[in-house]
Amino acid sequence: MSLKSLIPAIILYLCFDFSHQRESYEHELVKGVSTVDKDWDFLIFTQNWPGSVCKAWTHNKPNHHCVYPNKKDSWTVHGIWPTKAGTKGPFSCNTTWLFDPEEVRPIETELEQAWTNVEKETELYNLWAHEWNKHGTCAAMIEPFNGQLKYFSKGIDFLKQFHMTDMLNAADIIPSDVKETNAEDINNAVVSKIGKRPVIECVFEDGVQYLLELRICFDKQLNLMECLGEKEVNGLLTNCNISKGIMYPTQLPPPKRYLVQLHKFVNWLQWFTL
Ligand SMILES: *[C@@H]1O[C@H](CO)[C@@H](O)[C@H](O)[C@H]1NC(C)=O
Ligand SMILES: *[C@@H]1O[C@H](CO)[C@@H](O)[C@H](O)[C@H]1NC(C)=O
Repeated sequence: MSLKSLIPAIILYLCFDFSHQRESYEHELVKGVSTVDKDWDFLIFTQNWPGSVCKAWTHNKPNHHCVYPNKKDSWTVHGIWPTKAGTKGPFSCNTTWLFDPEEVRPIETELEQAWTNVEKETELYNLWAHEWNKHGTCAAMIEPFNGQLKYFSKGIDFLKQFHMTDMLNAADIIPSDVKETNAEDINNAVVSKIGKRPVIECVFEDGVQYLLELRICFDKQLNLMECLGEKEVNGLLTNCNISKGIMYPTQLPPPKRYLVQLHKFVNWLQWFTL
């Protein structure tokens, strides 16, 4: 094969790999890792808080908007990530088995609520395609995940079974744009329900840390286990600064009063000058 004929393939690969901007921070690709070794030890089930995903997506980007699930206090699935202890990934275990919307058609409306692509300006299937192609094809090594419908249905099941909204609410941790929460209370809320520490992920914007993700882990028999290889600070598995409060923001988009005023003014001006 000539180099020339490879170029379109390389470009396609790059587009595919960088298509999902939000996860650029999720897992750094470890260079030099053998692509043959697709073995993994456990699964990370990640839920994200749409209000914080939105903060990151819209930060300094006035033309970015967010899609929320209908239930405004609902956490949503980010993904189910097969992981080899002490590493990230494996990733993209079968590059010919690409996401196909037809495969998940029977559960599509459920997925929109449970596995919401918050980032409105991305393609409708961006998140699902990314999660399946990168992680699902590796999870497919075990029977409960060996198909797209199975992988995504399991995400919905896990969400119902381990819904963070319920665990946090039970500990009086509720979304607020004023009052902050903290990593220890979040950890205790989850531990009191499932007996395992969650991984608590923050995203940082303008000196504020927002509660972005809560991750729990399963072994290959789908029994809960503690996530391996996570950074531990004072008994908490987190990237958040544990000596600071954590914002768990509401999902209401900020009112665009300025734009509404401008719109009214333009309307008035048009009327006036006609
Ligand atoms: C990749 O997926 C395709 C389509 O499902 C399948 O036919 C093939 O056997 C898979 N390859 C590997 C190496 O698992
Ligand atoms: C965490 O927050 C405290 C209090 O604001 C600050 O003094 C400290 O430098 C922060 N730690 C890190 C690692 O950012």
